[in-house]
Amino acid sequence: MHMAILDTRSRPLRDLRVSVMDQCNLRCTYCMPKEVFGTDYPFLPPEKLLNFDEIENLVRVFSSLGVKKVRITGGEPLLRKDLPHLIKRIYKIQEIEDVALTTNGLLLGHYAGQLKDAGLKRINVSLDSLNPINYGKMNGRNFPVARVLKALEQAASIGLQIKINMVVQRGINDGDILPLAKYCFNEGYTLRYIEFMDVGNTNGWNMEKVVPSREVLDKLQQTMSLEAVDPDYIGEVAKRYRYKNTDKEIGFISSITESYCSTCNRARISADGKLFTCLFATQGTDLVSLMRNEEISNEDLTQFISDLWNKRSDRYSEQRVEISKHQTKKKIEMSYIGG
Ligand code: GTP
Ligand code: 5AD
Ligand code: SF4
Ligand code: SF4
Repeated sequence: MHMAILDTRSRPLRDLRVSVMDQCNLRCTYCMPKEVFGTDYPFLPPEKLLNFDEIENLVRVFSSLGVKKVRITGGEPLLRKDLPHLIKRIYKIQEIEDVALTTNGLLLGHYAGQLKDAGLKRINVSLDSLNPINYGKMNGRNFPVARVLKALEQAASIGLQIKINMVVQRGINDGDILPLAKYCFNEGYTLRYIEFMDVGNTNGWNMEKVVPSREVLDKLQQTMSLEAVDPDYIGEVAKRYRYKNTDKEIGFISSITESYCSTCNRARISADGKLFTCLFATQGTDLVSLMRNEEISNEDLTQFISDLWNKRSDRYSEQRVEISKHQTKKKIEMSYIGG
């Protein structure tokens, strides 16, 4: 049975972002600063993680409510054992039209082949700088950028489509805006510039560090010819541009200067099975307890999620300034919910 459901602002449920692992092998300063995510940080114990049966079941339930696209995130999803098996299982779900993976690329060289065999067609890889010193600093672990570039090459050579995510921070990596554009153009990867966001509670966000997408676009247009491209679908996060007379594109994710809440059709599931209806939520709904302890039927679970979505009113990006003035509750961390 298929029910189309809408929230209080008439937004359907289309995308499901599933975090499969809250840990990461990097410590990007804007996401998991190492001073906070140290050796004593209370990551989830393995038994708290959703198992693959539970994830598959949830995706099936969500697909019956309109979800067509599933994104696997983390932390770093490739740290999750046997991830390609999960991807294979998700591909088998009939209603799911698109499966994608967001990764930092460290383990990509090893897994690219298995991911491709599992059916995966595309990956989004975080890469904030081509400069080894800058990249090493931003990833908090001094990890060499050359290894990621090599892994990207491997993944591309077996036919995985690649998008690169660059979180731009003023004074940190704004000098990498042009070099990354050139590199991605030459390699055939689609680069997306992401405005540094105030996710979580620990990344030292402030407005001065945000480089507005408009500014990046102006900079690019001094040397390159770009034309705006219509969105592929309602609710697309990135605003896309095409290099004139080519089929190559570049994108902007502008959560700070241009909110896209009005069409936000995304639900998020944390690695321990909680449902969040906004990236900036302070609280989630524990689905795994319903499944594990109360052994709720899938029919009741479907109804439960549907009721929850019907009540949804989130629009944090539109209210950012207002909310942040008097917010006292802690927001969830990006590494826990997967962005
Ligand atoms: P594509 O399907 O490839 O377009 O994926 P995507 O851009 O939706 O996913 P990805 O995981 O690559 O995320 C890119 C950036 O967009 C990250 O910084 C996310 O946190 C951000 N993002 C994705 N969805 C939302 C959203 O609903 N709200 C906000 N504020 N940011 C989002
Ligand atoms: N602001 C914007 N993007 C972020 N990401 C992680 N933290 C932030 C932040 N504070 C990005 C990562 C990854 C994607 C899932 O989210 O770079 O590519
Ligand atoms: Fe890890 Fe990605 Fe966060 Fe960096 S942005 S610390 S790679 S989860
Ligand atoms: Fe969706 Fe919340 Fe992001 Fe707005 S801030 S686009 S409601 S996840």
